[in-house]
Formats: sequence, structure tokens, C-alpha cells
Amino acid sequence: MNARGTVPEIYHDGWIDFNKNGVKDLYEDSTQPVEKRVADLMAQMSLEEKIGQLHQTTRDTDAEKIYKDQIERGDMGSFLAGGEIIESPLHRNALQRIAVEGTRLGIPLIFGHDSIHGFRTIFPIPLAQACAWEPELFERTQRISARETAAGGNDWTFAPMVDLGRDPRWGRIAEGFGEDPWLGCLYAAANVRGFQGTNVAAPDRVVACMKHFAGYGAAEGGRDYNTTEISEYTFRNFYLPQFKAGLDAGAWTFMTSFNSLSGFPASGNHHLLTDILRNEWKFQGFVVSDYQAIVQLIDHGVAADDDEAARLAITAGVDMEMVSSNYETLPQQIQDGIVSPTNVDESVRRILRVKFVKGLFDRPYTDETLYKNAYLRPDAVALAREAAAKVCVLLKNEKSALPISKSVKKIALIGPLADAPGEMLGCWSSRGRPQDAISLAAGIRAKLAPDSKLTISPGCNITNNTAQISRAVADAKAADVVILALGEPRDWSGESKSRTRLDVTGRQLELFQAVAATGKPVIVVLFNGRPLTIPEISTNAAAILEAWHPGVQAGNGIADILFGDASPAGRLTTSFPYDVGQVPIHYNHLNTGRPGIGEYKGNYVDAPITPLYPFGFGLTYTKFEYGKIQLSALTMKAGETLTARVPLKNAGSRPGTEVVQLYIRDVAASAGPRPVRELKGFQKIELNPGESRDVTFTISNKELGYFDASGHWLVEPGKFQVWLSKDSASGKPVDFKLE
Ligand code: BGC
Repeated sequence: MNARGTVPEIYHDGWIDFNKNGVKDLYEDSTQPVEKRVADLMAQMSLEEKIGQLHQTTRDTDAEKIYKDQIERGDMGSFLAGGEIIESPLHRNALQRIAVEGTRLGIPLIFGHDSIHGFRTIFPIPLAQACAWEPELFERTQRISARETAAGGNDWTFAPMVDLGRDPRWGRIAEGFGEDPWLGCLYAAANVRGFQGTNVAAPDRVVACMKHFAGYGAAEGGRDYNTTEISEYTFRNFYLPQFKAGLDAGAWTFMTSFNSLSGFPASGNHHLLTDILRNEWKFQGFVVSDYQAIVQLIDHGVAADDDEAARLAITAGVDMEMVSSNYETLPQQIQDGIVSPTNVDESVRRILRVKFVKGLFDRPYTDETLYKNAYLRPDAVALAREAAAKVCVLLKNEKSALPISKSVKKIALIGPLADAPGEMLGCWSSRGRPQDAISLAAGIRAKLAPDSKLTISPGCNITNNTAQISRAVADAKAADVVILALGEPRDWSGESKSRTRLDVTGRQLELFQAVAATGKPVIVVLFNGRPLTIPEISTNAAAILEAWHPGVQAGNGIADILFGDASPAGRLTTSFPYDVGQVPIHYNHLNTGRPGIGEYKGNYVDAPITPLYPFGFGLTYTKFEYGKIQLSALTMKAGETLTARVPLKNAGSRPGTEVVQLYIRDVAASAGPRPVRELKGFQKIELNPGESRDVTFTISNKELGYFDASGHWLVEPGKFQVWLSKDSASGKPVDFKLE
């Protein structure tokens, strides 16, 4: 306010007088380069104002009242959505106005939100989207997430989560892309492009955040937040590449992970956040801690008090503190000479850089007219349906139980997930609403001829032991086609949702057994956020369609597959164990010194050593035949390429899509053993019945190299094996030599 008690005019044509001094400062001039604007602004900031930029807290409906004073003091840099559901950008703008008009320098706040697989239009969970083997699909769904997230008053999303997931006990396996780092890199980059586009400052784009840095998915026992022990060699080759791929695609922020990483918590880990991220990778954006992860350094046992936690985090390279407020101790610690002001300056510079890049100094407010028509637009809904169909993985299809004829007279749809729209949304469903979701029952009903009959029996409760099995059995007996909708509840996966058992929950297996005992062929549709152990279902069901938690258009997308209007083209990106005792189990493991099966070979006495369904697995409604692999040469020189080719034929009677997968093995490597097989390419090929095509891959040094424990990229001469196969467990390799 000025002397007369009125707000001076700060909004001018093409610029905002953020510091209310009546002149256009360099930082207020959008024609100036970002670095100059940052420097100009920083030169005007007090230490307290700088520390304020490092602080993020949750907003709730009363935030305007609660945080008014704090924002006015310049003691807040960012909000994340949380608490009460905040629907509109009006609320954001109200808070932003306090920051812009009510503080000395007018620095805009940045608003973050967890749009993991959609904002209002909820798409399939990330683990499911990976199973489409189509990164562009994910780019398109995240583009819509960005549009809706931004319309809702947010500038920034805490996604993608790129943590490698090998342990289905860990509930957050649902949020990532599975067990393969190469595929993970493609998905990381696609997500970043989807969120940020080519111009992240555009009003319908949001800043992406690579999380959780790093190693979070390797938590001991699959228990969330738990300790991880990962050798530097494994870390470089399996856990880090996805983060680097996101950075290379332009991601502007990173989030630390909760876990202790090989001896020191990630949120205070200088080696990770500075040596690797800043010094090696040259990351220019900022790092936000995970939720209260800085104060938790005390619980981890590496900081004695708030001061020490703040000191550890800021010197390690955590720029913004999410929710806890240990960084409030920094001014005193700087005054006492314990923390260097340079650390704070660096962090402020990075945060402001992103705020300028996002265009917050040119357009601090969200258009308040947009959001009412921004959600669930027809293109979003159509894409949600396409995605729900594309993520389905057909695990079994005996005697062509699928697809179902639309003229079938009586369908019995049984099970707790048969008509459960809210369950379709999965974990982290943001602003998704059950009333917008299409259940399996609704999707099937829409396909049926008017004289067909659909009976729906809930069968048994999804989590507890309530059973109504006799009605389900009677329905099954009276039906021509029996569909069982089974799985796990949506809130059994995601953060803090670890499991010790991986079977279908409650009494669903009993339900399955009772229905299967009728002798009717049973089609099982599975809804889950992680691989499940389903050996008995796998043996006794006629067909199994893995649908995951497929989002708002679940029922329509699945019905498209069940009735043959779309063909199943999904492939697993995480192995399905027989038994939880096999976990962690992943296709890209190392050989032992005693490979193979037999006594003293390292297998189980009571279970197979292989998974029930391997990585890359998925059936179609037709039959694909692979010919012999041909290499263009048997030797390859460094820097050259060779091609691998395989004839593929659709030998069945329906059109279908095959995912031809290229796997490579480096047979002897000097810095450490290489996995028995590693995915290095794939192509999705559509063929009509009887049609054939040669599928060709180019192999370059890029597909042959790996990292040593210090992060050096090595491509070494010697023997390599190549597979072109339908999954990670089939096919015969051919060899070539790198000279
Ligand atoms: C989660 C993050 C999330 C953050 C903000 C944390 O508990 O681990 O993934 O982005 O909360 O909601």
C-alpha cells in the first residue's frame, strides 16, 4: 500500500510492477533473458525473502486466511494442493494476489499438485499405461492431464514417478512403469514432453517433477519408506537412467525420495543431489524435498535437531522444503557462520529460474473462466477409453473364450469389482470422481443387444469376508457367459499400501473356486495396482484379462476388448510371480555362478524359479509366428551398426497387434556382469490374418553399452546375444561379435 492506503497500480500493458516502484525493472521485463531477470531480482532480496522462496506448504480451503500474514511477510514460495478439495483457480488466484500485490517484491508463488495419471479425467494408472508399450499414448494422456491441471490453478505436477519397481509388495509399484530401465526411460521422457510440451510457459502446460530421487522402489521387504541398499553399479544401470532421461527431455524439477539410500537418507544425500545431479548431469532446475522429508532426517538418525536437518538438506542440494519448516532456522545458522549464504543463494536462483521459465512473472494468474469447461472434454474421454483398452493384457484365452459375441443371450457378471465405478480410478486419483467413471457392468451393458440379459451379482466383499457366493453360483449356472471381476481395492495400492500377500483380496478366491466348480468357462477380469499371485485362477479360468485400475473409461475400454471391437495389445512390464516368496523377481536379473535348474542350482524346492507370467508377456486374439532371426553381419565394429531381422506372420484368423521385442545380452563384461537379457527395442506391428512382415531393428553401440560404478559408459568388445521374441522368456538367441 502507498501512503494514501490504496494499492498502487502495478498492472501495466505487457508488464507488472512487482516491486511497486513505478518503473520497469529488469526482472519485470519479459524481453530480458531469464538469468538476467533472476540476478536482478536476487540483488533486491533480503535474506528472509530468499529463505521464504524455499518454503512450500499445503493449501486448504482456508489457506487465504491462514497464510495471509505469512505470504505478506514473504515467507512462502510455493503451495501444494492438499487437505480439502480445492476445485477452482479462484482460490489459487486469491493466494497469488496476496503474494504479487501484498509483498515488497511481488514474487509469484508456484502451485504444485499430484496429477499422476490425470486430474479430473483419470487415465489408467502408470503401471498399466506402461503395458501399452506405447510411450506416445502416455504423452497424449499427460498432455490432457497438464491441460486440466493447469486449468485447475496449478503450474507444476509431482510426476512422473520413475522409480524402478521390482517388488509388487510395495504399493507404489502402481505409480511407475515397471521393472525395465530402458522402457522406463522412454516413458520418463514421454511424460515430461506430455506435461511440459515445447513451451512450459504455455497456460495449458505444467512443470514436470522427476521423483523420487532415488532408489525408493528397492525398499526392504516392500515396506514403504524403507531402507534401500543398492550397489553403485546396480544404481547406475537400473535406478538412475530413467531420471536422466527425464532430465534430458527437459524436466525442470526433481523430488527427493524418503528412503535411506545405501547408507544415507536421499533427502540429505550430497553425492546424489550434488555430485550426480548437478555436477555430472548439469541439472539447472530445482529440487523439492518429499513431504516433510527434511524434518524426517531426524527420525532417520542423521540429524540431531531441526537446525542440523536443515543444514544437511541445504548443503546436500535440496532447494525447496515441502511442508516441514526447518529452513526457518537458516538465517540464524548463516549469521552464526554455520551455513554458507552461497548455499541459499544457489537454491533461490534455481527456484526463481523455474518460476521465470514457467512464465509466472509474465502471467501469475490462472484464467478463471476456463476451468468450468476444461474437464472431461470429449477428446479427453475418447483418449481415456482408448487408453483403458490399450493397457489390457490378455494373460490366458483358452478355446477362444474371448472375444464374446455381442448376441450372447445371458451374461453373468460376478464379483466385487463388477459394478464399482470408483474402484476403477486407482491410487492418486486427484480430482477424479466415481460419478464420472464407467464400471465394467456399464461398459458391457452398452455393448449388448436389447434382448440380451446381464445379471450382476456382487459375490463377496472385496476386503472383508462377507460372502454371497450361492447367488453368484446360481447366476453362473443360468448364464451362457460368465465374467468374474476380481482384484484388489484401489486403496490397497499407492503410497503406504504395502502388502505381504499378493492374492485377490478377501474371499474372492473362494468365489472364483465356487463359480469355476459349476463347470462353466470363466472369464476373469482383474483390477489391481500391482502384479498379483494367481496360480489357481491361471490354471482354472478359461480367460484372464488384466485390466489394472484403468481410469474413468474403464468399462467402455474393457468392453471394447471383451467384445472384439479392439484387440488386446498390452504386454506386462512387471513379472507376475507364482508366489510372494519369489519376490523380488524380474527378468533382467544376473546369472549366478550356477545357472539352470537342478540340485545346487539355486532354485526353490517348493516353487518354480521362473515367474507365472514373464515380463513382455501378453496374448492376442490371433496367433503370431516368428521365423529365424537374421543378422546383417556376424561382427560389428565400434561406431558401426548392424541390423537384426525376423519374419513375422499372423497365422491366425483375426487381425492382431504383436509387440516384437529386441533383447540383448553382453556375455562377458569387465565392470560387472550384465543381465541375462535386456530389452533394447520393440515394435508394435499390426497384421491381418495371413499377412507377413519382416521386422527389422538397428543395433548400435547405444544398445550394447552399460555404466560402470562411477557412471562411465562402457562399450566393450566381445560376444553379444540377440533375441527377437514375443516376451522375455521365449525365443532363441543368435550371436555376434563386437570388435
Ligand atoms: C509423496 C509424493 C507426493 C507428495 C505430495 C508424498 O507423500 O511421496 O509422491 O508428490 O506427497 O503430495
